[in-house]
Amino acid sequence: MTNPAVTALLEQMTREEKAAFCCGEGFWHLKSSERLGLPAIMVTDGPNGLRKQDTSSDNLGILDALPATCFPSAAGLACSWSPELLRSVGEAIGRECRKEQVSVILGPGVDTKRNPRGGRNFEYYSEDPLLTGQLASAWVAGVQSQGVGTCPKHFAANNHESNRMVVDAVVDERTLRELYLLAYEILVKEVQPWSIMCSYNKVNGSYLSDSQTLLTDILRDEWGFEGMVVSDWGATNDRIESLKAGMNLEMPSSGTIHTERILAALADGSLSDAQLDQALAPVLELILKAKPALQQPAPAFTMEEHHRLAARAAEEACVLLQNRDDLLPLPQGASVAVIGALAKETRYQGAGSSKVTPTRVEQPWDECLALLGSSARLTYAAGYPLTGEPTAGMFEEALDVARAAEKVVLFIGLTPEYESEGYDRPHLSLPTAQLALVEALAPVYHKLVVVLQNGAPVDLPFADKVPAILEAYLGGQAGASALAKVLFGLANPSGKLAETFPLRCADAPSDAWFPGEPRLSQYREGLWVGYRYFDTVGQPVRYPFGHGLSYTRFDYSALCINGELAVGQALHCTMQGEERITVSFTITNLGDRTGAEVAQLYVGQAASGAPRPLKELKAFGKVLLRPGESQTVELTLDRRAFAWWSTERQAWLVESDDFTLFVGASVADIRLQQTITLQGDVARLPRDPRLAPYFDPAGGDFNDAAFEVLLGRELPRPIAATPFHFNSTIGEVKHTLLGGLLFKMMLKMTAKHVGKLSEAETRMLHAILEEMPLRNLATQSMGRFKLTALQKMIHIMNRNWKGLWRGDSVDYR
Ligand code: BGC
Repeated sequence: MTNPAVTALLEQMTREEKAAFCCGEGFWHLKSSERLGLPAIMVTDGPNGLRKQDTSSDNLGILDALPATCFPSAAGLACSWSPELLRSVGEAIGRECRKEQVSVILGPGVDTKRNPRGGRNFEYYSEDPLLTGQLASAWVAGVQSQGVGTCPKHFAANNHESNRMVVDAVVDERTLRELYLLAYEILVKEVQPWSIMCSYNKVNGSYLSDSQTLLTDILRDEWGFEGMVVSDWGATNDRIESLKAGMNLEMPSSGTIHTERILAALADGSLSDAQLDQALAPVLELILKAKPALQQPAPAFTMEEHHRLAARAAEEACVLLQNRDDLLPLPQGASVAVIGALAKETRYQGAGSSKVTPTRVEQPWDECLALLGSSARLTYAAGYPLTGEPTAGMFEEALDVARAAEKVVLFIGLTPEYESEGYDRPHLSLPTAQLALVEALAPVYHKLVVVLQNGAPVDLPFADKVPAILEAYLGGQAGASALAKVLFGLANPSGKLAETFPLRCADAPSDAWFPGEPRLSQYREGLWVGYRYFDTVGQPVRYPFGHGLSYTRFDYSALCINGELAVGQALHCTMQGEERITVSFTITNLGDRTGAEVAQLYVGQAASGAPRPLKELKAFGKVLLRPGESQTVELTLDRRAFAWWSTERQAWLVESDDFTLFVGASVADIRLQQTITLQGDVARLPRDPRLAPYFDPAGGDFNDAAFEVLLGRELPRPIAATPFHFNSTIGEVKHTLLGGLLFKMMLKMTAKHVGKLSEAETRMLHAILEEMPLRNLATQSMGRFKLTALQKMIHIMNRNWKGLWRGDSVDYR
């Protein structure tokens, strides 16, 4: 239903204006028109804070941005399992957007973590789409409550960085729906984000920007999305196809290249005026929605208040992974050796487009000193360098300092070049110098607390030897004061992992297929991602999904289903239409400290006709309890909590069967459980023997034949690199004379634009440039380089002299 104000605008606009408005202005703005009363609204990154660039523009997080509060990255925020916290963070970011007249913040990042090596995992919430969807919805609601829009990204199946601009995610529909689309579905149905960003990659053969199935059939028609779809920066493939598919706004501006194509398509009838209007309407609607906030004063707040909120968020993000002999919290009067360069130069955010210029940054060393005041008995040694090799005597100095102290806190983690937008991690190892330091500290293991700063799981080969490990993730600008409070017992950690820490990355079945071939990523493992796999097959992990300790202990009791006390034998439940099942239980704080507990409700259907994980997260609740206090947690389950997607029937199905409800402190620490018998929509379906490896996933033998059955089609063939086309990457053509020249020219131009780069930035830039499709040379050149010129170059690279002479067009494969 088009808004009447939008209809009125469409009536007043010329074809030229309409074509132009489907594309942005410059890097961060939409088109404007005084005549039409449409202001030039600004959209910008996000999502762990505002990254507004006033005088510069880049989507690599390299050039300057205005100072803003840097909140913990999503990987950490998710460990709070607190929609209430996420909402507050969203509200704060919304207020900062208002102050800076930014209308839409480009986030949150809600892709499901398929494998721990994903380079951008720090920017995503979880390996579980329900947790992601609910937390992201709270964040979106918070931002949007301030009159500012959001843009969940990157829709869809953008699960790795390698060749993200051209790779085809080959994924079966059930897995797509249950793992990779679910967070978006929850967002759309619960909070209607103002916009959604379509990703660079293809899904099952179609670039997202051209995918009618995903952008219109599923997103709009099925889920009811009412907002605007914007391309990721440079993700527009064929502009005419993308308009028809439902991709409304192209960003950044492609100059006049696509406007001219749109006008030509209107003229030759390959695009109708109605199609153009339909594509443009959400863009106009978004501008109209953004307008009131631009005309009103920004809400009052201080950066200090936001800094304090960032500290609270960091505190809730801390996960106490282990704490043998109650080594933590540390007594405030103890003599403590603080070791690790990261204690004085903390790593608090990831690299790439999400990089915020913080208003200030706390350092763990300073914050521990400040917290302890005159009682501080702290010593320090760097122990390892942040870059390069350790200098002579570094380890010895650290060991001397450690020996002399009663307790030792060692800060280690990933330095920026280890994880970034633009490339994936080849392994989960910590830097070698840090691992060597941990070994060197063996004589003091018994008093060693390890604090981790990283955006995603790391290998912890020393975990069995050291008593305490505290995961701080990338805690944002105020992460250090939160850490100091947790270390010295002024705060009780309550974070729970939103992703599994495997023993070895290779234990995850996706690992053998991750990231896959440059142009084809086969999601062979199907649903067997994260805890769904580890828990089902009983594969030991370092720390399970949902795990996190506290300085107190919690008891779970009195499980009731629909008010009936769980007694052991299966309870019969009925659920018609909108009816829900209520699951309640009591949590009691048995210790002597106030603490918060995140209780998790999983559902399992052991005998389904479809392969199903032993448990899947369906609800969760967090309670804060004083010593001795009890509270009843009530969670509800709707029909979907029991359903799986049947590709054959194109529907969510509930089989009439027994389901087990598991209530736990983590997926592996189930405290209460009860089986219920449910009347579903169909009788239990027969199992397809061809899917045997998916019913019995241990070992991960997802062979060609079984994957073809899962996909419902033949395996796609590897895509040949030649002949070159618009979507050949610069890396693919750089061995040709012309391609080599182009690559060098691009490197030179970009280096001139962005100036001196760090090692991590250089690596990111090279990856991004090499993987850029040729079409973007034209579309991102602001009209300096025409598509026709690019076509000619491609003919030359292909040595297709006839095509060059005839002026053949090149395709968008
Ligand atoms: C990233 C997006 C980001 C955009 C604008 C892209 O490269 O994938 O997440 O919002 O740049 O900076």
